[in-house]
Amino acid sequence: MIRPMANDAWITEFQVCPSILAADFGAFREQVIELMDAGARTFHVDVMDGHFVPVITFGHEVVEAIAGEVHARGGALAVHMMVQEPERFASDYAKAGADSFTIHVEATRDIHRAMQIVEEAGMIPGVTLNPATPVAALTEAARYARNLLCMSVSPGWGGQKFITATADRLPQLRALARPDAGVEVDGGVAADTIVGCYEAGANRFTAGSAIYKQKNPGEAYQALVEQVRAAGASIA
Ligand code: DX5
Ligand code: ZN
Repeated sequence: MIRPMANDAWITEFQVCPSILAADFGAFREQVIELMDAGARTFHVDVMDGHFVPVITFGHEVVEAIAGEVHARGGALAVHMMVQEPERFASDYAKAGADSFTIHVEATRDIHRAMQIVEEAGMIPGVTLNPATPVAALTEAARYARNLLCMSVSPGWGGQKFITATADRLPQLRALARPDAGVEVDGGVAADTIVGCYEAGANRFTAGSAIYKQKNPGEAYQALVEQVRAAGASIA
């Protein structure tokens, strides 16, 4: 049984989560503060190792650099590990201030053991899968996971086109999710796709380009929140 954490309610809330992959890498802190001023609380942190995906991004030091600011204002850091055997790094990320740690079913030998390691480190364990991996690959893992992340693009890059099959995959993931688990959608989430994701069962909407690559990221964030609210969600 997974130990409940004191501050984990955010995982099941409706939230638009800016992905700092699309931020200015020279100004993570400032760009996080800008979005918090606009109302954002949970930030999505994409870690890539150049092995599980062809790209390298950053490591736990980036989590450490923004965690103080995010936590001081009641926010959370949701780490998405696009890394081979990500459990090797769980304790580094927990110490750096990560609140959840989501790993790919394709990237680890024993996803149950990997989630145990994540949980023992003090983070919410999450699981995810690539777009062409059948949802059934998560049937058993979903008993233990507190975050089910639906990749709606191939992992590795921001700014890709939303995969329409996500509309079929999200309801399947929601059906597998525990009542205390979140369902997150990640990739190509924007004004033309976010409401469909809400209707298909997601409660956390991760968006990189649709926020940070816009002229006014704060306003872009608020417009996405407004769309989800207008569709019927109770969202702060
Ligand atoms: C892709 C990452 C996503 C990415 C989404 O590998 O997992 O989190 O930041 O970026 P956009 O919103 O630009 O598709
Ligand atoms: Zn991601």
